[in-house]
Amino acid sequence: MTIQVGPEGPIPAQVMVIGEAPGAEEERQGKPFVGASGHELTRMLHEAGISRSECFVTNVCRERPFANDITNFIAKAKKDQTSDHIQLRDKWVKRPIVSGYNLLLQEIEMVKPGLIITLGNVPLWALTGIWGITKWRGSMLRTSDSNIRLVPTYHPAAILRQWDWRAIAVHDLRRAAKYRFADYPVPPWNFLVRPSFGDTVRTLDNLLDLAHQQPLELSFDLETRSGHIACAGISWTTNDAISIPFMCVENQEGYWQAWEEAEIVYRLYLLLTHPNAQVVGQNLLYDAQYTYRHWHFIPRVYQDTMISHHVAFAGLPKKLDFQASMYCEQYVQWKPDRTAWKVGG
Ligand code: URA
Repeated sequence: MTIQVGPEGPIPAQVMVIGEAPGAEEERQGKPFVGASGHELTRMLHEAGISRSECFVTNVCRERPFANDITNFIAKAKKDQTSDHIQLRDKWVKRPIVSGYNLLLQEIEMVKPGLIITLGNVPLWALTGIWGITKWRGSMLRTSDSNIRLVPTYHPAAILRQWDWRAIAVHDLRRAAKYRFADYPVPPWNFLVRPSFGDTVRTLDNLLDLAHQQPLELSFDLETRSGHIACAGISWTTNDAISIPFMCVENQEGYWQAWEEAEIVYRLYLLLTHPNAQVVGQNLLYDAQYTYRHWHFIPRVYQDTMISHHVAFAGLPKKLDFQASMYCEQYVQWKPDRTAWKVGG
């Protein structure tokens, strides 16, 4: 006989915590997260300022999977599908996941959480359709059906195997704690994307005027394609930025006419090499190779965020999306899986 492990916690509850499937201890006690990973979960929640007793704790799957591995209920590839598999979202899964998922939707209706914390891949995928916890953890998301705030983080069982993920998960839980009563903020972003020639020149000239008056911190980033500069991004406050394209899908010759590009690159040279320019960027050694090769100048580098972060936290990943997940007030993973370009994109 299969044992079903139900949820635990108050109804309604401001925070709902969702795991993958019960383990042996949960099966024995009939409650979720009461084994080793459950104890670690309770400790991490408390460190983040969330009391476990205020949370409604549940799982996507209510049965203990073979070898405690929920992926045994999910077909890895099309060839692994059997007559036991049922389609749920984009995956083929076994009945315990489908029935658990249906219960989970009912529980969300009952509990009416302000915020959901998902642990590991399966609950993140079940409620948003997204798979990829390493990439998406810490993001400020919403459930796809009911638009409830959702923050995914690592599963505590994974943390017990990979201890340096713990501090990262506590960081994510702190973000969750902050938004359990309050809505995610909408920053007053002012981004110029695919700007006109006039807007580009005006923006760069205004920045040059500022640089003539005082030290000016400028964040700078290039996107490159096949050895060439595809676009350049500059921001001068946390909310103001311009993305200047040089390549585009519509026109093989480039986004600008030759004379326009010359005017823009000249202004970029004046701005980024200005004695008052304090250029900040991620791994600028890479960008500088491109500015030097194609535009014949090197920006006045003031701070390289990859180097600063690595000096402070040598053991942590140093890629930009990881750093954004730790340092940005408003974070949603943004890096696309594919690099294909769309017309107008
Ligand atoms: N892991 C889970 O995902 N859920 C539990 O209840 C226990 C361990």
